[in-house]
Amino acid sequence: MLQHYNSNSMKQHTIGYRFIVLGFICLLLSISFGLIASLQYIFPNLLADRLSFQQTRPLHVFLAVNWIFACVTGIMYQYMPEVAGKQLYSPLFAKVHFGLMSLTILIATVGFSMGSFSGREYLEFPPWVTIIIIAYWVLFCINFLRTVNPKLKGAPVYIWSWSVGLIFFLITIVEAHLWLLPFFNDNIIRDVTVQWKANGSMVGAWNMLIYGTAMFAMERITGKKEIGHQKTSFAFFFLGLTNLMFNWGHHTYIVPASPVVKEVSYIISMTELILFVNIIMKWKKGLLRDANDTNPLAKRFFMSADRWILLNLALAIAISVPYINQYTHGTQITVAHAMGATIGINTTLLLASVTFIFENKLKDIGKKIIIAGLRTMNVSLLLFWASLIAAGIIRSIATQQNEYFSVMTPKLLPYLRSFSVFGVFLVIGIMAMSFTYLRVIIGADRHSVKDEIGQSVPVTSQ
Ligand code: HEM
Repeated sequence: MLQHYNSNSMKQHTIGYRFIVLGFICLLLSISFGLIASLQYIFPNLLADRLSFQQTRPLHVFLAVNWIFACVTGIMYQYMPEVAGKQLYSPLFAKVHFGLMSLTILIATVGFSMGSFSGREYLEFPPWVTIIIIAYWVLFCINFLRTVNPKLKGAPVYIWSWSVGLIFFLITIVEAHLWLLPFFNDNIIRDVTVQWKANGSMVGAWNMLIYGTAMFAMERITGKKEIGHQKTSFAFFFLGLTNLMFNWGHHTYIVPASPVVKEVSYIISMTELILFVNIIMKWKKGLLRDANDTNPLAKRFFMSADRWILLNLALAIAISVPYINQYTHGTQITVAHAMGATIGINTTLLLASVTFIFENKLKDIGKKIIIAGLRTMNVSLLLFWASLIAAGIIRSIATQQNEYFSVMTPKLLPYLRSFSVFGVFLVIGIMAMSFTYLRVIIGADRHSVKDEIGQSVPVTSQ
């Protein structure tokens, strides 16, 4: 039987909601900087002296990554009491976590806007900020362990996924800062290898957290508890874990290391996607048979993620062929791969959980805006993604033919223009959905606080 999402704690509502709001703020800022960055492809002098591409790119990417982390954290704070059947262990830790995370986002955003970059790619903030990140992550881990109290034997797959994601984020954030030690910094091969290993595994860690929330939501929507205990789900989980630990090989093609390691790592990451599609397909079949449809909107997002997994898989297979990879590496095709995954898969799965939590609070007009926003996002993302791939192909051919930059650039321009134009529509689609959710979440949060003060009945999303 299908079930409504129903949480029983007002305090947890407010803290989970606040992280999700923080995530949407990061998302809105990120896509605004992304749009400026894409326009700077075509107009290189745009804001050159105030906000150059060297600033807009890290601002965009850092905020996109924090959209993912803040939103998945908020969703987990929502789901944790539901999974445990009891209140959150420490609402105070959660509040401190929220304060510290907001502070780090503020420090990095202001710093990048002022042109201060003292870290490494994707983590360009000053290394001392990492101490704050580790501190709030430890609080998050304690809250998870004490609330959910995971006894891994017999636990559903999403508990395993969350546990591994939480631990591996801690490991990888430390690993990503090993360059501060001379042993790593003094050896370029060691340095680059460890840096990309850390970055690759960090993506694996956030994937674990997101897939965990997706599995939990699927279980609740279908009412089929066995989903979280099926052999296929665990096979997928263990492949995901292997992927998290060993898939980084494809990031180090530039480093002289054994090609076997790189090929094996690519195969592992692709098998993970195949299995994930397999799981969603099974779930989809089950849903279609189900007549009582209480979360139709959330399902649209899951099915959409499903299609993006397939598309990204196709691209991953193509660029994993070593012969093709030597041409595509470092071109817009790599960017298409990264954005296809973070928008098409990660963002869509996060929005699926947000929709699952708030679906029953959405009015008809809100639902219509979400459907239109999702359609706009999907169509524009497809064309945006295809433009990047086309630009990447042109660039690799030009590089192969040793063409001068001045000869190559005019050939790239039409594709970079279409990338920007579809980017505008992508921004419109994402903004439409974000503002609709923000309205509902902030309204729901206000009601929670009012009821809490008035000692009234708990707010549920029904
Ligand atoms: C949910 C929304 C988005 C997410 C999660 C996202 C994520 C990312 C990520 C992870 C990268 C780094 C890629 C790499 O290093 O290979 C990136 C780069 C970039 N993104 Fe986005 N993106 C989003 C939306 C957008 C939008 C709407 C635009 C433009 C309208 C845009 C424009 C760019 C540009 C110009 C780059 C830099 C590419 C380069 O280095 O040449 N992004 N994005």
